[in-house]
Amino acid sequence: MLAGKHILLIIGGGIAAYKSLELIRRLQDQGARVTPVLTRAGAEFVTPLSVSALAGTAVHQELFDLTAEAEMGHIQLSRSADLLVVAPATADLMAKMAQGFANDLASTLLLATDTPVLLAPAMNVRMWEHPATQRNLETLKEDGVSFVGPNDGSMACGEFGPGRMAEPEEILAAIAAKLADGPLKGKRILVTSGPTHEPIDPVRYIANRSSGAQGAAVARALRDLGAEVVFITGPAAVRPPEGVQVVPVESAREMEAAVQAALPADAGVFAAAVADWRVASASDRKLKKSKDGLPVLEFAENPDILKTVSQMKNGRPGLVVGFAAETNDVVENATAKRKRKGCDWIVANDVSPATGIMGGSENAVILISDEGAEEWPRMGKDEVARKLAERIAAALAG
Ligand code: CTP
Repeated sequence: MLAGKHILLIIGGGIAAYKSLELIRRLQDQGARVTPVLTRAGAEFVTPLSVSALAGTAVHQELFDLTAEAEMGHIQLSRSADLLVVAPATADLMAKMAQGFANDLASTLLLATDTPVLLAPAMNVRMWEHPATQRNLETLKEDGVSFVGPNDGSMACGEFGPGRMAEPEEILAAIAAKLADGPLKGKRILVTSGPTHEPIDPVRYIANRSSGAQGAAVARALRDLGAEVVFITGPAAVRPPEGVQVVPVESAREMEAAVQAALPADAGVFAAAVADWRVASASDRKLKKSKDGLPVLEFAENPDILKTVSQMKNGRPGLVVGFAAETNDVVENATAKRKRKGCDWIVANDVSPATGIMGGSENAVILISDEGAEEWPRMGKDEVARKLAERIAAALAG
């Protein structure tokens, strides 16, 4: 998967540094070459000897190391890699990067590089949530730096929340996504997925049974072909894929705002099961039982995100793909839906109970385009996603 790729791995100072030793092994298993850099604080957590023994090469530690400067200057060191990975990325390293400091080897390499950078942050939850760190995060994202994690969980310091470094396998997937060299390289594609939650009051909501599985599979397949994927997901049952930019939302209106913010894009795939209606005036207090009778909910129509994007005058993605779940007259209904919405393709499927498709692992879809209806054989949902991603790649190339 990563054969011939060269990763410069900067290990910062944090208890999660031990996971980076595992990461080195995983990267090597995939055929990558790892050049390790250990910060002064990092060396408090793992020893230079274990790092260099695992990497099978010397570990770089100091900015002014005359031997290293003679063999390979730090500028060259920072540019010879295909990707710079910082794991764990501490609050301090993020702050230095956001400010452009270059006062040790790691920060100098990060400032001098012109190769992509991936950060796996790890820190105490309060440090992660501090406005300064969040500011630095935004700055770094604007600078084009990619992130994997942090995850929620219990931390070595005894607190609970976001701040745990992503697991080695998650970092590996994110690295593979960054280095993917497929036909969608350089293409930005947004994918909506999952159900939406429409609030009734602060504790209740209206939802649907979408698991988000097909949307996640599409995002993964697009990522594997090298696309930069913005994955806008409602509260789904399945985990979002690694190596995509995840934008979590709850309601249809939040999803629409997130889609607008993610544009421009080369293509949009709208796999979300968006609620067609919301409660017109959701209460900001919990509704109570009352002797005066049952509550009456009035509904308002939600924005049709697919239709809005399909009919944009300016900045419409070159290819807009919608989904349609039908129980009868699949081709007729989906063909009419494609016309009504104004999208380029509709991926239609028959979800009537007899097919066993709803909640199952297989799908049988019909792709409706201006060339008519094309029936695909029944196959796994991952395979449907791969085939769709290949079609998207062909359409964007043509
Ligand atoms: N969609 C959307 N925004 C909405 C509703 C739907 O973007 N508010 C998108 C879905 O993501 C999907 C497609 O539109 O790509 C499905 O269209 P929709 O009309 O909602 O399908 P159904 O609910 O199956 O429609 P109908 O009830 O008319 O059969």
